Amino acid sequence: MSHQLLKGKKGIIFGALDEKSIAWKTALKCYEEGAQIVLTNAPVALRMGEINKLSELCGNAPVIGADVTNMDDLNELFVKSMEYFGGKVDFILHSIGMSLNVRKGKHYTEMDYDWNARTLDISAMSLHRVLRTAWDLDAVNDWGSVVALTYIAAQRVFPDYNEMADAKALLESVTRSFGFHYGDKKKVRVNTISQSPTRTTAGSGVKGFDGFIDYAEKMSPLGNASAEDCANYIVVMFSDLTRMVTMQNLFHDGGFSFTGVTLPVIEQMGK
Ligand SMILES: NC(=O)c1ccc[n+]([C@@H]2O[C@H](COP(=O)([O-])OP(=O)(O)OC[C@H]3O[C@@H](n4cnc5c(N)ncnc54)[C@H](O)[C@@H]3O)[C@@H](O)[C@H]2O)c1
Repeated sequence: MSHQLLKGKKGIIFGALDEKSIAWKTALKCYEEGAQIVLTNAPVALRMGEINKLSELCGNAPVIGADVTNMDDLNELFVKSMEYFGGKVDFILHSIGMSLNVRKGKHYTEMDYDWNARTLDISAMSLHRVLRTAWDLDAVNDWGSVVALTYIAAQRVFPDYNEMADAKALLESVTRSFGFHYGDKKKVRVNTISQSPTRTTAGSGVKGFDGFIDYAEKMSPLGNASAEDCANYIVVMFSDLTRMVTMQNLFHDGGFSFTGVTLPVIEQMGK
């Protein structure tokens, strides 16, 4: 059911790879809630062609390629998006993550530092790059909203999350630091949403993901939040109902983050 929470709003959605992607579900919800959107992903991801299906489902939303580590690409993305919208944007979703050390099977204690630098750039400093491009072009309306996705490994150790834990900690820090300046200057708000483990391409790259997701399910009084639940929360964060929320890391995890232990986990231990 649509509440038209984003009626008349315009936004850019980064990171819809396939229909499992959190960004994919979010694009559909934003469109359903009355927004106009531009879709973007890395040129290599666009070659899969899946995103064109999403574009059709979202009123033929334009698809504009941009490697999020390339400032020329980002500049072009924002310029073209503003041309399409005939003005500035109201919201941006940063739904991007990639770890070279995880992908290449390197243990955290043996990380390759060149790969690590690339991981931090793609997964964390890319938010700075996006915000800075928007800032330089004055591309976001006052009271606009930016959301990036993160994971609780930024606060607590999940050993197989590897260097992505450091990337998420940096992402959350950029959210606070840039969020301060953007709020101060333009009343633009910037937040992270810390999502439950979710079966997507990026999520499934984490070693032992099946055990990981089952454990989180048992450790959360509400169970794990799905990608669709996350999309709903993001819509609320893009709406005018959350105008005074900024620089926050918002847990969206069925209560996992504040649970010490649960009966199902204790029972499992006794087996
Ligand atoms: N799936 C989970 O369990 C989970 C949990 C918490 C947070 N998150 C976060 O949610 C976000 C979205 O991930 P997802 O789970 O939907 O997986 P996904 O694999 O569908 O999305 C990741 C996206 O990042 C894009 N990307 C990678 N490198 C890029 C680059 N250089 N330029 C532009 N885009 C690039 C990919 O093309 C892909 O679309 C990520 O930040 C992820 O860390 C995921």
